[in-house]
Amino acid sequence: MAFRRATEGDLLECSRIHREGIDAYLGRMGFPPMPVENPGLVRLHAHTLGTDPDRFQVAERRGRGGKPRMIAFGSAVERGPMWFLSMLFVEPAEQASGLGRAVLERILPEERDGRLLATCTDSAQPVSNGLYASFGIVPRMPFLNVLGRPREGWTPPPLPAGVTAARAEPAMPGLLAPADQDELDALDLDVNGWAHPQDHAFDLRERPWLFRYRDGAGRLVAYGYTSEVGRVGPIAVRDATHLWPVAAHLLTAVPPRGASSIWFGGHATEAVAAAIRAGLRLEGFPILACWSAPYADFTRYVPTSPGLI
Ligand SMILES: CC(C)(COP(=O)(O)OP(=O)(O)OC[C@H]1O[C@@H](n2cnc3c(N)ncnc32)[C@H](O)[C@@H]1OP(=O)(O)O)[C@@H](O)C(=O)NCCC(=O)NCCS
Repeated sequence: MAFRRATEGDLLECSRIHREGIDAYLGRMGFPPMPVENPGLVRLHAHTLGTDPDRFQVAERRGRGGKPRMIAFGSAVERGPMWFLSMLFVEPAEQASGLGRAVLERILPEERDGRLLATCTDSAQPVSNGLYASFGIVPRMPFLNVLGRPREGWTPPPLPAGVTAARAEPAMPGLLAPADQDELDALDLDVNGWAHPQDHAFDLRERPWLFRYRDGAGRLVAYGYTSEVGRVGPIAVRDATHLWPVAAHLLTAVPPRGASSIWFGGHATEAVAAAIRAGLRLEGFPILACWSAPYADFTRYVPTSPGLI
């Protein structure tokens, strides 16, 4: 068995291991198999590999003919003080013999003192929850995937008094002008304490409708992404009471071709309650946000997905 850094050429194999790893435990509970093609997942892998190439590792076993076969991979990103585990998957036949722990140890920061370590897990999976908890990355809060469309006749709440929304125009496809990026970074620093311009570039390519919300004095008080495919987020708001009005604006500003999907942290009490009242629904098990120490304010922040905070 050998470990090495991943390359772009490995990403389809990573998707295979991801799919087989999930199907092996969710299939037993009667869930349908994952789609074989998952281009969005491959793009997410390409993004995390691009920003954090040293923290994307694969494990291979050399088969009889000498051709190596990938059996596990793990990927993590570092954003300021925060280390975030994006993915860790081991081929079903190779699980429970120390391989997941070995890959994890290769991508965890060498110096862990004072570092914020975080990830998201499936609440239906005791192995990953136990493995990460043994490093102090303990489940603390559910993430609820709120799905669907508001029911017929529902009217979104108005934006807060004096706040207006406008779509941000990228300077080039997937790239904001430096001053615009600085403004988003300042809001991220205010909300979470770390900025992630590299993820904004990814989000802008994936969800090209970026709205900025300003108060009467022109100050940026929120941003949020949405898209025609229905994925909403990330969202950041300066004032927690603005989270649901901004999310509701994003849900209606760009009508999607199908369902909308938002990941609210369980701390976002009013947004979760109002979304369900509006007619959106929960499916499956909650995801668990795990951390060694608090690293984000989920009353004011909605992530891209559980794989990219
Ligand atoms: C989760 C996964 C990556 C772990 O890899 P693995 O090679 O099977 O796990 P390891 O043998 O390295 O480590 C297992 C550890 O999990 C923990 N663990 C396992 N079952 C546990 C339980 N019921 N309660 C608490 N901890 C448990 C222990 O810490 C154990 O380590 P130990 O045996 O040294 O005590 C792998 O099982 C997998 O891919 N599962 C399916 C997909 C998945 O859930 N991925 C994570 C997405 S969040």
